[in-house]
Amino acid sequence: MNQAEILKHIIQSRKSTFPKDYTSDEIPQPVLEEITSSAHFAPNHKKTKPWRLRVFKGLEKTELGEQLAQIYKETTPPEVFLEKKYFDIAAKISKANAVITISVNFSGLLPEWEEVAATAMAVQNMYLTCTANNVGCYWSTPGMMKHLDRFLGLEENQKCYGLFYLGMKKNED
Ligand SMILES: Cc1cc2nc3c(=O)[nH]c(=O)nc-3n(C[C@H](O)[C@H](O)[C@H](O)COP(=O)(O)O)c2cc1C
Repeated sequence: MNQAEILKHIIQSRKSTFPKDYTSDEIPQPVLEEITSSAHFAPNHKKTKPWRLRVFKGLEKTELGEQLAQIYKETTPPEVFLEKKYFDIAAKISKANAVITISVNFSGLLPEWEEVAATAMAVQNMYLTCTANNVGCYWSTPGMMKHLDRFLGLEENQKCYGLFYLGMKKNED
């Protein structure tokens, strides 16, 4: 395949893969680095590079899962609170080999939507790099993300726009 065919193949085969379809295998560190560094090649107006990506693995990832479950508990009225959902939150995080939090830094130099758009393009780069490396991934935007600011140490002009789950893909039958 020439370059154009390879690119077309990667774009067309990209899809979201959810943690239930990840193996417990480790994503090789150089691959994980390739994925995160690909984000930084996204186009961005006035070179603001607005994406703020933080990789969670191991114990830190467990703490992120516990934090999300806690947020669910604290922000859900008791009459709609589901214990199963509460436990599923941390379990889903533990099924992923890595989770990258996606936040946007608003520089004040541009309309906010441009910084969100540039960040979405950075996420697409990660999706495509995952695809090329047989890594499953997906962008998740749970309501709890609005309450992650303090946990992530975000500043006033920064906001969390979701979680990017990653794991080696199970072989498709
Ligand atoms: C901005 C954005 C937010 C998303 N949030 C969620 C989400 O919260 N939960 C979810 O299951 N999928 C989420 N997705 C993934 C979409 O569901 C998925 O891309 C869509 O179903 C198309 O499937 P594909 O990615 O395999 O083409 C999100 C995708 C984008 C681009």
